Amino acid sequence: MISFDFSNLLQANIGEKFGLSPNFPDMWNEISRKGYLKVEKGRGGYPYHFMELPYDDHEDVKKWGDLLGKYKNFVVVGIGGSALGAYALFNALKHQYHNLISDQKVFFIDNSDPATILNVFDVVDLKNTVFNIITKSGSTAETMSAFSMIFNLLNEEGLPLHEHLIVTTDREKGDLIKIAGEYHLPTMFIPEGVGGRYSIFTPVGLLPALFMGIDLDALLEGAKDIDSYWRRTPVEENPVALSALANYLYHTQYGRNIFALMCYKDALKGLGLWYQQLWAESLGKKYDLDSNTVETGTTPVVLRGATDQHSLLQLFIEGPNDKLFVFFEVKKPDRDRSFHVGELEKFKSLSYFEGKSSHDLITAELAGVKYALAFNGKPSYTISMDSLDAYHLGGLIYALQLQTVFSSTLYNINPFDQPGVEEGKKATYAIMGRDGYDEKRKEMEDNIKEVFIREIPSKK
Ligand code: PA5
Repeated sequence: MISFDFSNLLQANIGEKFGLSPNFPDMWNEISRKGYLKVEKGRGGYPYHFMELPYDDHEDVKKWGDLLGKYKNFVVVGIGGSALGAYALFNALKHQYHNLISDQKVFFIDNSDPATILNVFDVVDLKNTVFNIITKSGSTAETMSAFSMIFNLLNEEGLPLHEHLIVTTDREKGDLIKIAGEYHLPTMFIPEGVGGRYSIFTPVGLLPALFMGIDLDALLEGAKDIDSYWRRTPVEENPVALSALANYLYHTQYGRNIFALMCYKDALKGLGLWYQQLWAESLGKKYDLDSNTVETGTTPVVLRGATDQHSLLQLFIEGPNDKLFVFFEVKKPDRDRSFHVGELEKFKSLSYFEGKSSHDLITAELAGVKYALAFNGKPSYTISMDSLDAYHLGGLIYALQLQTVFSSTLYNINPFDQPGVEEGKKATYAIMGRDGYDEKRKEMEDNIKEVFIREIPSKK
């Protein structure tokens, strides 16, 4: 089960001033129904194809099962939506120190920081390594530059490219598909109409997951079950839609510009990063669908409970009323240990642990923070998974995708494009001297000048 607890959004718990009325779902039923129908009408078509992905047979991925078994290292090379999904699955479903305890290790090259790339080269033995190059556009600078290094390194070592590279990209667009054709590299395709951040249930997320030994069928079944629930449940009772509505209301009626994602499980940090990107890129938009300038969006921030209670909580409790909080928790711990304080019982700071467990403590901390926020009139809701496994995670991922796309209908914006990201990509191409970007480079030189720099000299 995945449950959504909206109690601490209501006036009864957080007060009249910032609390929602318990009949908020009915009050906003018209806009919700319209949004729901829009999403359902889009189902199956471009660009809503992500909704159908759990139903695909994914034989293209599964056929790799035995073949991948021969490699000791699997390196995901991608960025943004082309890496965060695989990272979320890895972080959630594998041991925190997986690479120390497993013979099949997983690495991520998801940045152009040279150290990130070279550090991986330092620790993998190329002969036993497969690099999964993932880029939908087939041209992103970070991914393509890393690819060129890997390509040449494999060549220098005299290793057959087709045995050490698997390409995941668009069927037509970009250079990577051309390179894959020319060098006979095994290739997986990202279906048309599925953007990077909606691609976790394509080879983008599933091939790395297969290498990690994650149960793909359970992951997809979780997603299908959420979809079936979504289709059967009236929008005013559907927690996926209600969470989107709550977010929308707190943003537009109460000025909550920050969406604090408080993950009370270290293994959910990756999911938080994935969700952060999904939310920010999908809902942070300059124009609405009628071309009005709206410059809308709330800023998601991933936090780690209980650790960040000792870092940010002071600001959250006493600072400005600009945040909506969502807590992510797992009810049944995958691991737990009871405290036995033994002879240390005479110390008050320890005696109360006796007979309780580590899970009891983090659960109490979560409850304590929820109470402190509510008592101070700060709105929050909680999303709980019964347990952290492929089935529940697949369900939650699918639910968050639906929630995000449904949110976009409330704002009347396009959740599938990312012109801001594209702008950044073009600027990088221009600075790096890519063919066809001279005009962009000139525009940049004309507009942005280094006119206000002050330097503090260092002694070394
Ligand atoms: O969600 C998105 O569309 C983006 O975050 C992309 O995934 C990211 O920019 C990487 O793009 P590409 O897969 O084309 O390399």
